Formats: sequence, structure tokens, C-alpha cells
Amino acid sequence: MPDTDARYVAAIDQGTTSSRCIVFDRDGAVVSVDQREHRQIFPKPGWVEHDATEIWSKVQAVVAGALARAGLRAGQLSAVGITNQRETTVLWDRVTGKPVHNAIVWQDTRTAPLCGRLGGADGQDRFRERTGLPLAAYFSGPKAAWLLDNVPGLRARADRGEIAFGTIDSWLIWNLTGGPDGGRHVTDVTNASRTMLMNLHTLQWDASVLSAMDVPESVLPEIRSSAEVYGTAVGQLAGVPVAAALGDQQAAVFGQTCYDVGAAKNTYGTGSFLLLNTGDRPVPSENGLLTTVGYKIGDQAPVYCLEGSIALTGALVQWFRDQLGIIRTADEIEPLAASVADNGGAYIVPAFSGLFAPYWRADARGVITGLTRYVTKAHLARAVLEATSWQTREVVDAMYQDSGVRITSLKVDGGMTRNSLLMQHQADVLGVPVTRPAVAETTCLGAAYAAGLATGVWDGLDELRSHWRKDAEWTPAMEPSVRDREYRNWRKAVEKSFGWAED
Ligand code: G3P
Repeated sequence: MPDTDARYVAAIDQGTTSSRCIVFDRDGAVVSVDQREHRQIFPKPGWVEHDATEIWSKVQAVVAGALARAGLRAGQLSAVGITNQRETTVLWDRVTGKPVHNAIVWQDTRTAPLCGRLGGADGQDRFRERTGLPLAAYFSGPKAAWLLDNVPGLRARADRGEIAFGTIDSWLIWNLTGGPDGGRHVTDVTNASRTMLMNLHTLQWDASVLSAMDVPESVLPEIRSSAEVYGTAVGQLAGVPVAAALGDQQAAVFGQTCYDVGAAKNTYGTGSFLLLNTGDRPVPSENGLLTTVGYKIGDQAPVYCLEGSIALTGALVQWFRDQLGIIRTADEIEPLAASVADNGGAYIVPAFSGLFAPYWRADARGVITGLTRYVTKAHLARAVLEATSWQTREVVDAMYQDSGVRITSLKVDGGMTRNSLLMQHQADVLGVPVTRPAVAETTCLGAAYAAGLATGVWDGLDELRSHWRKDAEWTPAMEPSVRDREYRNWRKAVEKSFGWAED
């Protein structure tokens, strides 16, 4: 039986492929988990959509499931925190509460031509100083502009104040706190920093960017910190304070307790996202990284990060499994790759929808190089895994060039960290130890920590730091000369991926 006096904190992680709810106890230990997938909608090549109504019902289901598994009532929760797939864009009717179109997912490339036009003579970096981001289809602002221009009558309805815009955090907070009946229309600084509409220095919507993108301020949520009470939930969580929101990668930074300047984490999911804490100043990138908000706790100063966003890592293993059929389960890749000593000269660059950091090349497409008759499926399995660690090496190099900070170790999390062969290769190619925490659910943990800080469950960052425990560590073992040769080969392969996509 649970201790009814204990204060539990729930976190909702609304991700790209599934929604999860995890209940944590006061030590930051997992009490219960529930998870459900939602549909991926592909209306055209390069387009990816989600049904935001389906997402909301899956979220309600996993909240109910996690509470039931823990044997808890809503009243035993001190707070609920939200973390979410970032950039995915929803527009909805404020009166009916219904989305006006499917959500456009972060991976969707339909706004690439619009981004090209917006850049004009200034190119990709037109808004970089203000927003920290290059003009790319990845971000929410152009997605909102596309919806306003392509859903019949929507712009007029927006001008009349009938339409709300939100990333998934906003959509969930609005629904959790009452929807059309008084729901709070807010977002947090980390999610807002991915819209390309927020000024990174003022942490407010930037009027000049809004006007260039033709997004009316009337649709936008209020920008708040990542840890404060936004409102009180109604429905199944009635009475529970909704007290945190962070984009999922920033939540992982918080859950991994990367609170010091120079601390870095990499989360390996569909793609991989490496964030480096740069403290209270936004470091501009000249090497293809994003400058983003890491977190902001209540009234405290914001903490900024440099981010290397890699579009495709774990999804390459899925492709190897589902499209090529070489393995039956994702876990089979490790023994297959371990059955050979090296990649046999083969490299796979998974630029399936272009390359994100540090290249931002929408015209890149996937390539396999170095094929000879010697190469077997086991060598290709190695090349699949190595694509993840080499892409990570490239963003770590860019971080050093931008910030002068040389990371001395890397905290890792996400599904692919179960793969020891990959983690060893990651340590080898970075030349620093790679460590995995005991609580693997760092994204949810970060959202729970922020919600618990906002509601007095935990006193401060030192208490949270004391929860972190190492589960596994990999130390570099590769000869530097081998590493350098392999890295040169990888970069030659990347160059071969450029210029394939037709507009
Ligand atoms: O920026 C996209 C990222 O937030 C997606 O994360 O884990 O839902 O694939 P994930």
C-alpha cells in the first residue's frame, strides 16, 4: 500500500510516438508508468501529422493508468509536470476546443520553401541573433504561418481572436485546466524558444519576427517560466496544480541534473539531442548549433543551452529492422554488429529528411558509402550504430568551437543507451567517458523535479543533485589514430549526402 502521507509527483511526457505518465516518489524513484502510442499520419512524402485530439485522449488514458497502477488517487499528487515533443504545432478553436487541422509535427518538411523565402537575401541566419535558431522547417513559427495561410478562413478567424496556437505543452495545459471552460493558455520559455517567434534575450514574443512571419500575436499563449503553478487541473486530476512545462530535451537536462556550466547530456531517441549548459548567457552559434533556453525556475534567471539536434539516430535502427528486414527486433542489432570487428569500410549517413545540426542541409539524402563484396549485414549493422556516435561527435566538436567548453564526460539517456556496443563506440569517438544514470526516465524525471520545486516537494537543486546515481559508464579505448582515420571517412561520407533532394 502506498504511504498516503507521502507527496507524489506525476509527469506527463507527450512524445513523438507515444504518451507516458510516470508517478515519482519524494526520492525521485519511479512508482508507476503507463504508456500509449498514437497514430503517425503521413499525408505526403515529407509531411508528418498527429491528431491532437487523439493525443489528448491518450494522455488522459495514461494518467488514469499510472494512477491505477500506483494505487493512488489524484489527491495524493502534489503536482503534475508536463514535458513534450517540441516544435509540433497545434491551432485550435478557443470556443469549441477543437483543433482546426492535424498538428504539424517537428519532422515535417512542408515549410522548407517558406523558410527559403523568409530568409531572402539574409539567408538562413536572418532571425538567428533574435531567436537563436536558423530558418528551418523544424521550428513552429513557419508551421503556424503555413496553417494560417492554408486552412480556409483561418486567418480571418485568428484576427477575430477565435484561434489559439500552441506547442503540445500549451495544448495539454489548456485542456488539463479546463479547455474552453477557463483553460489557461500558456507556454514555457523552453518550448517558446523552439517556435522561432520568441526573442531569446527578452523571453517575450518578438514583434519584428511575428510581423515577418505574419503570425498575429492574438493567437499566442503567454510565456511563463518552466516551474510555477500555471493553474489547477480539472477532471481526473481535479485540484492538482499543473506546475511545470519543459520541452522534452530540456526536461532531460533538468532530470540529468546538468545544472552547472559545461554539463552536457545526450538523449538517444528517434533522433538525438545533445545539450550543453552555458549558464545565464545565450551563446550564439557560428557552427550550426541552436541557442535555446535550458530551463527557468520561477523568478530565477534563465539558464541557456547550446543544442546539437540530430534528426535521425534511433529511427535508423527502425529502418534497418522494418524497411530492410535484416533484424526482427531493435535489440538484435547489437549481437549482429558485435559479430564483426569493425564496419568493413562501410558508412551510412541517415539524411533521410535532410541533415540537422551542424549542417542544416534540407537537400541532403541518405547514402551508404564504402561498399565492397566484403561487406556483410553485420558490417552494415555496425555502420548503423556508428552513424549515431559520429553525428554526436560532430555536434560536440561544434560545441567546442562555439563555446570553448570541452566536455569532460557525457551523461546519456534514452532507449539506445541499452546498447553497450554503441555506448562504447560513443566514448571511443568522443574520447571522454559516457555515463548512464540509474533512473533512465530522465525526461519525465526532469518535468517532475520542476513541478516538485514549484510546489515545495523539493527544496532546491542540491537536493535533486543528491538523487542522481550512476548505473553504467563506458571509457574511451580506441587508438586515437584509428579514431581520426574513421572520422575522416565519416566526413567524406557526409559530403556525399549533399545535393540529392529535388525541390
Ligand atoms: O525537437 C524534437 C524532440 O523534442 C522530439 O523528441 O523524444 O519525442 O522524439 P522525441
